Parts: sequence; C-alpha cells; structure tokens
Amino acid sequence: MKGLILCAGKGTRLHPITLKHPKTLMPVANTPLLQTCIEKLVEQGIVEIGIVIHPTQEFEIREQFGNGESRGVSITYIYQTEAKGISDAVKQAQSYIGEDAFLLLLGDNLISEPLTELKIDVEERGSHGSLLLAEVENPQDYGISEVLDGHIVRLEEKPQNPKSNLAVLGAYALTRSIFLAVKDIKPSARGEYEITDAIQWLVDHNYPVTYHITEKLNMDVGTVDRWLEANRRTLDEMDNDGTIHETAILENCTIIKPVSIDQGCVLKDSVIGPYVSIGAGSHIEGCRIENSIILNGVHLKHLSNTLKDTVIGFQSVMAGIHPRGDGSDQ
Ligand code: G1P
Repeated sequence: MKGLILCAGKGTRLHPITLKHPKTLMPVANTPLLQTCIEKLVEQGIVEIGIVIHPTQEFEIREQFGNGESRGVSITYIYQTEAKGISDAVKQAQSYIGEDAFLLLLGDNLISEPLTELKIDVEERGSHGSLLLAEVENPQDYGISEVLDGHIVRLEEKPQNPKSNLAVLGAYALTRSIFLAVKDIKPSARGEYEITDAIQWLVDHNYPVTYHITEKLNMDVGTVDRWLEANRRTLDEMDNDGTIHETAILENCTIIKPVSIDQGCVLKDSVIGPYVSIGAGSHIEGCRIENSIILNGVHLKHLSNTLKDTVIGFQSVMAGIHPRGDGSDQ
C-alpha cells in the first residue's frame, strides 16, 4: 500500500501567513502538518509516499522533507499545476500509485484516529473505498455522507441543506478503481473535481464503500481560528502540558502551561501561555503572550499590549517602547 498526501492548495484562508509558504508546512504545537501526515502513514507501515504539490512549493517542501530518506520513507513529488480539486490531484498521481491501494490524506487535516480500519477495509474486506467520518456542528463546510448498514449510500459536497451531520474527514483508503471515477466526473459548481463526486461514482457503479466514525480530535486547519484551536487542543493532549526544548533559554519568565517552546528560543522577562507555541530560534523579551502561534525566527521586544489570539509569521520582527523609556537595557 502507498500513501498520497495532497499539499498543492493555495491556503488562501490563511493569508497573509501562507502568501509565501505552503499551508502544509504550518506547524501545530511546533510540528508541521505535513510531518504529522507522514507519521500517520508510517504508523500504518507505509514507506512509499507521494506528495502532490504546486511547483512553486517544491523548494521549501523539499528543503524540509527531501526524498524522505532521513525519515525512513521514500517520497515522490507529484505536480498539480492548477487548483482543480482533490479528484484532479488524485488523477495526477495515477502513474505513481499504479495498481496499489493507497491511503489518501489531505495535508491540512489533523486527524488523531489511527487509519488501521480504513486500511484493512480495502486490503482485506473487499471495499473499494473506506472513509473516516465524524459528527460535526457545521455540516455545510464539509462533504456530508448518508450511510446504511456500514456502507456509504450518498455523499454531498458542502450541502446547503445537509441530510446528516456526518462529515467526511481528510483521510481515505482507496483502490485503483478511483482512477476510473476521477476520469469520468464533471467539475462542481465551484469549478473543482470533488472527491465526494468521485466516491459517489464508485457507489453508483456498485463498488462497495465503507466507513468508520471517529470521536477523536480532528481539525481542518483551514482558517486562523481553527489553526489556533488545533494548537490549543493538541497542546492539551500532550504529556507534561507541552514541551520546552532543552536548548531554549528562559530568563525571568513566567510560563503558564500548556506551551510548546522549540529549540534555540531565547525568552526574557516575559509571561508566556497558556496555549502558546513558539517556533525555533525565536527571541522574545518583555512580552505577554497567550493563545498564539509564533512561527520560527521571530523577534518580539517590549510589545505594549498582551499578544493574544494571533499568529506571527516566520522571521517577523516587532518592537515597542521600553517601559522605562530610558534605553537602560542596552
Ligand atoms: C475537502 C473535501 C470535503 C471534506 C473536507 C475535509 O473540503 O472536499 O469533502 O469534508 O475536505 O476537511 P475543502 O475544505 O478542502 O474544500
């Protein structure tokens, strides 16, 4: 079995943070989403992984993940040059996948449930597709399923009048039958080749599609508020209320856990937390920060107000007036 991770999306709802960086490199509790996806596949014994990217993302993603060797996997990069939807991305991967069954992950989804049952469905139980579903409060934002006797009977992409609250999450086990489907479907009203339409095609052509329902943490990290929420919930689930890397230097700081402070950070005279992640190599002095994500290499000094509910982009610098105003910290 192979793995396929879709990363080519533009991440427009996370602009300006993702203007220059791929969304799937955005970290939750200091772990990039793409890394979490790769680990999820490795957990299932999958070592051949295709990553679908837009060519403009290649340099940065390759820089971090290369050919996968250091992580014990073999990564192949596959291009999707136009934002034509998930089914189109899958279509681009057909020659890479070949005859194999595969686990498909949407690179912006954070899913806690192990994918074991999905994998067994297609490898041993004769399913041509197996989906992970969860009850959600906002079914209009998802692909929504109607189910009967362990099988999917109907899927609808972001319905205005949802028939259920069972959302399709961004993890699917599929067989090569999906390539028949993605070639045959038409673009949706939003101009995309939808994965829900391709799976509906399987159902309509009598290929069995099964599902499993999860109650564990799952998030589509598509907007800043959901990203902050994913960060909060992930920090909450971590042992020891998060982590402070052994190389981080903290001087005269109050830490309110949970927090994640990555390697090489230097923090001085600050109150940090709760629910703060600070990326590698950041320097923070004289600040109060809560419920925020600070990406790598950020420098913040003497911000006058508490920084809260905010994401600070890579390498950002911000400085306020020293509270004593006498430059005595020079
Ligand atoms: C995509 C799929 C949708 C699925 C969702 C999960 O939607 O099209 O069926 O429920 O991912 O996050 P997107 O939000 O990427 O448009």
